[in-house]
Amino acid sequence: MADGAEAIDLREKRPAQGDLATPLIVRLAHTHRRLSPPTAKESCTGAALMLGEAASPWILAGAAAAVALLWLCTWMLQWAWWTPRRLERALRGQGLRGTRYRLFIGDVAENGRRNREAASRPLPLGSHDVVPRVIPFFCNVLKEHGKLPFIWTGPKPIVIITDPDLAREILSNKPGNFAKQTTAGISRFVIGGVVTYEGEKWAKHRRILNPAFHQEKIKEQYLKMLHNMSGMRMLPVFSACCTEMITRWENSMSSEGLSELDVRDEFQNLTGDVISRTAFGSSYQEGWRIFQLQEEQAKRVLKAFQRIFIPGYWYLPIENNRKIREIDQEIRTILRGIIVKRDKAVRNGESSNDDLLGLLVESNMRQSNERENLGMSIEDMIEECKLFYAAGSETTSVLLTWTLILLSMHPEWQERAREEVLHHFGRTTPDHDGLGRLKIVTMILHEVLRLYPPVVFLQRTTRKEIELGGIKYPEGANFTLPILSIHHDPSIWGQDASEFNPERFANGVSKATKFQTAFFSFAWGPRICLGQSFAMLEAKMALATILQSFSFELSPSYTHAPHTVLTLQPQYGAPIKLKKL
Ligand code: HEM
Repeated sequence: MADGAEAIDLREKRPAQGDLATPLIVRLAHTHRRLSPPTAKESCTGAALMLGEAASPWILAGAAAAVALLWLCTWMLQWAWWTPRRLERALRGQGLRGTRYRLFIGDVAENGRRNREAASRPLPLGSHDVVPRVIPFFCNVLKEHGKLPFIWTGPKPIVIITDPDLAREILSNKPGNFAKQTTAGISRFVIGGVVTYEGEKWAKHRRILNPAFHQEKIKEQYLKMLHNMSGMRMLPVFSACCTEMITRWENSMSSEGLSELDVRDEFQNLTGDVISRTAFGSSYQEGWRIFQLQEEQAKRVLKAFQRIFIPGYWYLPIENNRKIREIDQEIRTILRGIIVKRDKAVRNGESSNDDLLGLLVESNMRQSNERENLGMSIEDMIEECKLFYAAGSETTSVLLTWTLILLSMHPEWQERAREEVLHHFGRTTPDHDGLGRLKIVTMILHEVLRLYPPVVFLQRTTRKEIELGGIKYPEGANFTLPILSIHHDPSIWGQDASEFNPERFANGVSKATKFQTAFFSFAWGPRICLGQSFAMLEAKMALATILQSFSFELSPSYTHAPHTVLTLQPQYGAPIKLKKL
């Protein structure tokens, strides 16, 4: 620690959660009490007393306004200047390095500038050295300030964690030291449910959701289906959706058996279709409508996000804001209808239909045992159903998209994967156990997830003062865990870290490096992705079905330009040339 005087002392007062600034405000108040702004009420009362009873209401109002303005300015100065400066000194005092704080904006403008610059320069075909293009600002900061630097989102410092052991400590969250950062209110229109909760509420929802996503449940449903063809079950649903996609592709072929299409759009539809059917079974049509509405909602929320820094923007009665609320209402009305109907059916002892919603309703009844506080409400279930789409559709779709791009760039691996698939299944429909035995396909999917993780960062915040890696952080300190950088770090993966080499996963994920958490596309610890098995099975089924029917290569119009729009996407789409086998 370079400067002991900067150690953070939180013992005087518990600051509000989520505000990294607060502990330093406490210190500031302790040493410079005269700078603490009075509350607006105190100021007004004081002003009224000084002016005496004879003062006119106008004078009183003017004085109150002046005091309020003074209070606001002081508060602003504290928020935008004193607190960030103190935090900066506290972090530097403990040996951390990082960017200099710029008033109000921090690094937001510089980050945007670097992103725009990187986005204008595609990568050479076959290069997987994607970090400088996808997160150029981070990359630069890591080069300039070492492996534990801090940056600024506005007046808040964020510490970048690139050491997999520290990442593991944060994600394993043993004594409950860390929470997710609270997201801007508007994002609740796209993402809510278990992924956003903390504490008791998170534990309750995770417990109720778990049975629906358990690997054995997916297999059990498949076996049931073999004996009973009625109803919707999960693996056959994956298979049916893939077969429909393959048939569409076959119908698009020229007489020479060739075709070109953008697989990004295809996989978006495939994964939307899969979620609609696996989640809602017989109510598939409504499920598909929800998928379409959610897609539109994501685009509109993203648009609103670009303006969200304008105070009060969200409340302006402009078309985009109005439409977001309307879409939300429509989604909720459809979901409420499906859920209430299903809840009744399950209570009447009718079949749960074995789709995700049925399993959720059943599990909810079992866990709650008719005690309201132990179970989920209908509104809770609406949030979870929305989350199936938000968490499960886009992520799996980009995994498949990058897989086809990479297998086009590396045809030798495409051939090895095809040989394996044909060896296990020939031209028959892949089954659960067979998919579990696909070693090469699994190695390929892991390598794609390593080089092109759909989720590029995880964010966490401290719930109390903690010590991590010898540094003391106050409550509300923010961390970002850049999955992408850790997945490409040569000190972890070797000199070929940015090369496509599925062989590194030949002995499984745990043997690929000596760091247990160096590969964490699905996160780690108690908040590990609930849909991991679901996504991997879906991806294996899709890839196996495609490899059985087509060979593929990149279209000459493909431009290699990975970039992030919520997930890691190919900036100019993924046009692929297919050849019927
Ligand atoms: C390739 C596909 C997928 C990837 C890469 C992925 C990645 C992730 C990651 C990184 C997290 C942790 C987020 C955080 O802690 O901030 C997460 C959480 C979650 N994912 Fe996935 N996911 C995928 C597919 C799915 C699918 C198909 C579903 C469901 C249908 C799903 C449902 C969830 C849920 C419910 C959580 C929240 C878990 C919790 O907070 O307890 N995911 N996922």
